Amino acid sequence: MERKINIFDTTLRDGEQSAGVNLNISEKLKIAQQLAKLRVDVIEAGFPIASEGDFEAVKTISREVRDVSVAALARAETKDIDRAWEALKTGQNPRIHTFIATSDIHMRYKLGLSPEEVLEKAVMAVKYAAGFTKNVEFSAEDAFRSDPDFLVRIFDEAVKAGASIINIPDTVGYATPEEFGALVRYIIDRVQNTGQVEVSVHCHNDLGMAVANSLAAVQAGATQVECTVNGLGERAGNAALEEIVMALNTRKDHFSAYTAINTRQIYRTSRLVSSLTGFPVQPNKAVVGINAFAHESGIHQHGVLQEKTTYEIMTPESIGLTVNSIVLGKHSGRHAFEDKLKKMGYQMTREEINSLFTKFKALADRKKNIYDEDIEALIDAGLDTEKRPLHLDYFQVSCGNNSHPTSAVGLVYKGEPIHEACIGNGPVDASFKAIEKALGISVILEDYQIKSITEGKDAMGEVIVRISEGNRVFTGRAVSIDVIEASIKAYIEALNKMFMRPGGHIMPSLETRKEAI
Ligand code: KIV
Ligand code: ZN
Repeated sequence: MERKINIFDTTLRDGEQSAGVNLNISEKLKIAQQLAKLRVDVIEAGFPIASEGDFEAVKTISREVRDVSVAALARAETKDIDRAWEALKTGQNPRIHTFIATSDIHMRYKLGLSPEEVLEKAVMAVKYAAGFTKNVEFSAEDAFRSDPDFLVRIFDEAVKAGASIINIPDTVGYATPEEFGALVRYIIDRVQNTGQVEVSVHCHNDLGMAVANSLAAVQAGATQVECTVNGLGERAGNAALEEIVMALNTRKDHFSAYTAINTRQIYRTSRLVSSLTGFPVQPNKAVVGINAFAHESGIHQHGVLQEKTTYEIMTPESIGLTVNSIVLGKHSGRHAFEDKLKKMGYQMTREEINSLFTKFKALADRKKNIYDEDIEALIDAGLDTEKRPLHLDYFQVSCGNNSHPTSAVGLVYKGEPIHEACIGNGPVDASFKAIEKALGISVILEDYQIKSITEGKDAMGEVIVRISEGNRVFTGRAVSIDVIEASIKAYIEALNKMFMRPGGHIMPSLETRKEAI
C-alpha cells in the first residue's frame, strides 16, 4: 500500500538562513501563498525569537495563509516558545517546532550541558509547548552525529511529554544514504509509539547527499521530509523539495509513497523563490533547471521526436513547464487578459488587475507576442510598487566603443524629482552611479545577474541586483525588453527595500543634500 509522505517546507526559515538571502515580509508572504498553492503540508515560516522581522513574518503568514499548517522554530527555552506561540496563535493549525542539540560535540562545546541536562530541557520544552497546542515537533539537532541510544531515550521522553512529530536532522550533511536509513530504522524500531507519531527527517547538503539521504529515510519508514525550494539553505543548503517530490512521484514503483504536492506548481514556485531571493537556479539543476528538459544532441532529439519516453522520465508539463504559447498581444482586451490570469491560476482584486492591465498594455506596445512567462514576470515584478518611496522617471544613456558611457537619470523620491548624470565603465555602471549621486548615498553592489526569460529577439531580460549596506543585503529584480531599463529598475527596487526596512536607511531631506552638494 502506498504511504503518504508529508512535505514540511522550510524555505522561509532554514532557506532564509542562507548567507545573502534577506526577504521582507511581503516577499515571505508571496512565497508562503505559493507554497500553499503547491500544497505543502507544513510551512515553517520563521524563528520568531530571532528577530522582529521573523516574528512579524510568522504572524502575517499564520493569519493570511490558510489550509496549511504553519510552523515556527523555538529553542528549548520558554521565552522562545512564548514568542513562537504569540506569532502563531491566529493560525489554522499552528505547529511549535522546538529543538535542542544532542551530539556530544554540540552538547559540550555549544551548549555546555550534560546529556541529562539536555534531556531535561527537551522534556520541559515539549511539555511547555504542548500546553499551547497538540501540534508539537521536537528536533534533536545534529542527530546523525549523536549517540543513537541517547536519541532513542530523548525521543521516547519527547513523545511522552507530548511531541506528535519527532525530527531526525543531519544538521551538517555528514551522513550517507545507507547510514542515514539505518539510523531512521533504528529509531523507529526502538522509540515507543512511533506508530502514533510522525517521524521526520531534515537533511543538509554539505556532501551533496541531502536528497538521497531523505529518500533513504522514507524507505526506512520516515513519514515527513523537511526540505526547501531549489535546495536553498544554510551553507550548501537543504534537501531540494522539487527533487524529493518528483523522485517519489516518478519512482512510485520503487518507493510506494506519494505526497499531496500539486507538481504543476513546482516550476512557478522555483522561479518565484529564485527571483525573490536573487539566487539563480543552475541550468542543469535536476527538475527545475532550464536544461532539465532540453535535448541538445541529435541522437536524443531524434529519440524524443519518435517517442518522448526514450529520454524523458517525467514530462515538462508535470512540473508546470508548458511550451511557450502566444497568449496575448497589443489588441487583446481586458476580458482576454482577465481570462488568461484566471487560467494561469491567479486570483486578484480588481485594483490589482487594473494595475497589471496597464502594465500589460505598456508591454504589448513594445513587444509583439506576450507569453505566460511575460505575464508572470509582470506579476513577480510586484503590484505594490506605488507604495515605494523611489521611482524611475526617465533615463537616457549614451555609449559606444569610442566614447565614455554616460547616463542621465531622473528619479522621483517621495514625490520630489531629482536628476543626475554620470559617466561609468558601461551604461549600467554609469546609471547606477547617477542614481547614487542623485540620492547622495553609497552602497556596495554585491551581485548583478542578467538573463533572458522569454524567447525571440524581443525577449524579456531579467536583471537581479544584490546590494549591501552594513551587514544587510537587499535584492532587487526587474524585467524589461530593454536590459538597461531592467538594470535601473532592479537597482531601484533593491534601494527601495533598503529604505523601507524597519528602522531603515534615513534619507537626508533633498534640501539638506542639495546644500551639502
Ligand atoms: O539543521 C538543523 O538541525 C535544523 C534544526 C533546527 C531542525 O535546522
Ligand atoms: Zn537545518
